Amino acid sequence: MFKINENYQKLPGSYLFSTIAKKVNAYSTANPDRQMIRLGIGDVTQPIAPAIIEAMHKAVDEMGKAETFHGYAPDLGYDFLRSAIVKNDYEARGCDISTDEIFVSDGAKSDSANIQEIFGVDNKIAVCDPVYPVYVDSNVMAGRTGTYDAATEMWSDVIYMPCTMENNFVPEFPKETPDIIYLCLPNNPTGTTVTKAQLQTWVDYANKVGAVIIYDAAYEAYISESDVAHSIYECEGAKTCAIELRSFSKNAGFTGVRLGYTVVPKELKCGDVSLNSMWARRHGTKFNGAPYIVQRAGEAVYSEAGKAQLKEQVGYYMKNAATIKAGLNEAGYTVFGGVNAPYIWLKTPDKMTSWEFFDYLLENANVVGTPGSGFGPNGEGYFRLTAFGTYENTVAALERIKKL
Ligand SMILES: Cc1ncc(COP(=O)(O)O)c(C=O)c1O
Repeated sequence: MFKINENYQKLPGSYLFSTIAKKVNAYSTANPDRQMIRLGIGDVTQPIAPAIIEAMHKAVDEMGKAETFHGYAPDLGYDFLRSAIVKNDYEARGCDISTDEIFVSDGAKSDSANIQEIFGVDNKIAVCDPVYPVYVDSNVMAGRTGTYDAATEMWSDVIYMPCTMENNFVPEFPKETPDIIYLCLPNNPTGTTVTKAQLQTWVDYANKVGAVIIYDAAYEAYISESDVAHSIYECEGAKTCAIELRSFSKNAGFTGVRLGYTVVPKELKCGDVSLNSMWARRHGTKFNGAPYIVQRAGEAVYSEAGKAQLKEQVGYYMKNAATIKAGLNEAGYTVFGGVNAPYIWLKTPDKMTSWEFFDYLLENANVVGTPGSGFGPNGEGYFRLTAFGTYENTVAALERIKKL
């Protein structure tokens, strides 16, 4: 008789966004006349930029001719894309990363969930609390997190680093030494980040204690302040302790196109074992390459026209962020984020729980947001709104919220 992976049985409830979708569907079915505004899930709304569409059309045409047809892509990504990544995301910022340290993938969700696989099951992970739920859940599936306490909503073998108003949402070094540290900066959901100098202290800490940092920089394109690092490799010594995850979803609207990459430096080693070789082996066995058409689309992100168009797109979303921030401040809310990230994190009013505020906003303003508690126990009492809606919907949502 076959046996299942019992670790899956330990996962509490369903994935956060499925729960939200169910609640919103139930409300919409019962109230079909209401116009919902969705500022919940971090999905983009603006179309793919023209320079990228042009590149995709060209690649589609190539696929239709025997002379230019492409079958399986190289496991680790086409050179044209890996070179564009190195030149624009690293060389331009003074980081010494080479093409064979770049692993092209179908997005940061799969990479952030899969990367734990190259580490032993007895490693102790540390996560910011609140944070993107995939890091903890993927470690639960692997059997690395111990037992779940429903009362505290915490796992016995996970080190939680609280990020709250009291510490400006900046994690502090944990009392217990971790083996694997997940840092998501700028942060989802708090929308806050750290300075380059603060990030350097994390790199120094990881090198000192022999930990590896999994650095999720999915929101890098939204950084507006000059003292914030765009890549962890801007910090001295990061190549011996950090893996960086990147996504094309938020900077270029590829949530439905699917493209991302992971950087595993060759200097990152456990004894004599190179993590770069391990990830190459894993990728080669379990991934058959991102599609040619999509990688050409990714290359166009770095073209002059692509860069200019995407700067405008990020600016569009950041205008929404400023609109949400200003509107909420006017309505008397305590608000964070929205400066280096497309997320606005607010304190729920009148000591409402995150889910109570979710229901309140859904029923009274027909606005959908995300309860902070869905991102970890220290997210309780907070709520996330995204700047990824259309400008018109964002303005309308804030008008409704101000009237409450
Ligand atoms: C922190 C973080 N990492 C990764 C992802 C997923 O990115 P991708 O669309 O590339 O899978 C998200 C998506 O919301 C995210 O918030």
